[in-house]
Amino acid sequence: MPSASRRPFRPRDPLSFLLVSVLLAATAACEPEPLDDAERDGWLTGPEEERHMAIERQFGGFSATMWEVGYRYNVLYWAGEDRNWELAAYQIEKIRSAMENGFERRPAREPSAASFMETSLPSLESAVRERDPVLFEDRFLALTLSCNRCHADEGMGYARVTRPDHRAAPLGPPADDPAGGDR
Ligand code: HEC
Repeated sequence: MPSASRRPFRPRDPLSFLLVSVLLAATAACEPEPLDDAERDGWLTGPEEERHMAIERQFGGFSATMWEVGYRYNVLYWAGEDRNWELAAYQIEKIRSAMENGFERRPAREPSAASFMETSLPSLESAVRERDPVLFEDRFLALTLSCNRCHADEGMGYARVTRPDHRAAPLGPPADDPAGGDR
């Protein structure tokens, strides 16, 4: 007698049969239909190598990274001021991955960011983990100095990072903040 595992799968009850039919139809629907450039109505056209170059151009180099990091640096600061430690931890993680993606695009930038990545960011991260507002202020300042040190090393000393004085994102204190939403 053949073992159950070797028997071909043929659902007998109508519900299983229906489920399998729907699954098969969905798989068929996922098959990509080849389109030519005129039909696609997209901008990523032409030979494959040109498309790759267009993608690289659109992603941008390190300034695109810095744009994101600058924004997250601002949100991180206000998250600390709000004692919103979850949001602060989230921004630190996103800064780290934005930097890593930037090094993938521009490997020559990585050595100047060593102390930022290996010391300043992890130190601030531990202040956030400890939920310590005084340590946060201290290490946020150290992080800022580290941003500027790299800018100086990269010939970008004129791009001076300063502690934010306004919120760059529509994100405020948590709703249950005893100080209310005005801080
Ligand atoms: C590799 C070391 C490095 C570190 C660390 C670094 N930066 Fe930069 N930053 C650069 C370079 C290089 C540029 C110029 C990028 C370009 O033009 O390609 C730049 C440019 C900028 C710009 C201008 C971007 C634009 O195009 O308008 C901002 C804003 C910025 N950085 C913010 C920060 C902040 C905030 C930090 C720290 C949280 C930081 N940077 C850390 C290297 C660094």
